[in-house]
Amino acid sequence: MRTVTLPGGETVPALGQGTWYMGERRGDAEAEAQALRLGVDLGMTLIDTAEMYASGGAEEVVGQAVAGIRDQVFIVSKVLPQNASRSGVKAACERSLKRLRTDRIDLYLLHWQGGHPLAETIAAFEALRASGNIRYWGVSNFDTDDMAELASLPNGAACAANQVLYHPASRGIEFDLLPWCASQNIPVMAYSPLGHDVRRLLRSPALQAVARRHGATPAAVAIAWSMRSGTVISIPKAADPGHVRENATAATIALTDADLAEIDAAHPPPARKTGLDIL
Ligand SMILES: NC(=O)c1ccc[n+]([C@@H]2O[C@H](COP(=O)([O-])OP(=O)(O)OC[C@H]3O[C@@H](n4cnc5c(N)ncnc54)[C@H](OP(=O)(O)O)[C@@H]3O)[C@@H](O)[C@H]2O)c1
Repeated sequence: MRTVTLPGGETVPALGQGTWYMGERRGDAEAEAQALRLGVDLGMTLIDTAEMYASGGAEEVVGQAVAGIRDQVFIVSKVLPQNASRSGVKAACERSLKRLRTDRIDLYLLHWQGGHPLAETIAAFEALRASGNIRYWGVSNFDTDDMAELASLPNGAACAANQVLYHPASRGIEFDLLPWCASQNIPVMAYSPLGHDVRRLLRSPALQAVARRHGATPAAVAIAWSMRSGTVISIPKAADPGHVRENATAATIALTDADLAEIDAAHPPPARKTGLDIL
């Protein structure tokens, strides 16, 4: 599996698994956990979840999936902005740890910026790090100016990742956010690398043509594209085992200059700054 290096030097898989919409129905939990386990067996050992997903249900599915293999998995979870106060972060983390059935979250993200001062959230993250409840912390849905503000705060430079929307039809972050994060050695996590509404993106003739050349599928090409820089971690979500297997092949696809040019022609990179796309 290709890897991405965190600011502290630890490497994590460049291809992980999302969990949004898992844990919604109790009857699906076992199959969802099995899908995640299959993904882990195929090398996608980073799992992204959040207290928000199914109101904790997705974290419970992750807990089920990692039972007995916890040490093989890098767990990312997120705190909601309304819980991002000094005491709120601690309490939210304790609830998440219980649902995840673990003693530590590897990377804990602020899901998006809300009303609590960032400095307070950072202090709460640092306290959790000191007590061993989390190993790293980061943010999500932060644009370049938000990242610069974060970096200016005490311990703000300890941010280990920024998770944002990124797929061929949503490339705004390439204008200045991706370069800024790369300059600070902060990996970007690409969420919804299949566009969330997957049917629309997979209809792209450019992705289909590139996929044909590689004997791959348009989904695998879209995922390979999102992680092509070496500094981006892609986290497609798949509950269908066929999708999981297909997505795992993305790590083996090396896109050529001609492939990238064809994708650029159909899905152009940004020519100017645009607001951050958010789902
Ligand atoms: N930080 C944030 O604000 C934020 C926002 C959105 C998402 N995220 C994270 O990023 C993860 C991924 O994003 P996402 O779930 O929005 O969207 P996504 O990964 O782009 O797409 C997921 C959808 O694609 C389908 N799919 C997966 N692999 C496929 C394949 N090979 N062929 C065809 N369809 C396929 C899935 O179906 P099946 O499940 O049926 O396989 C599901 O319906 C989330 O699960 C979550 O962990 C974070």
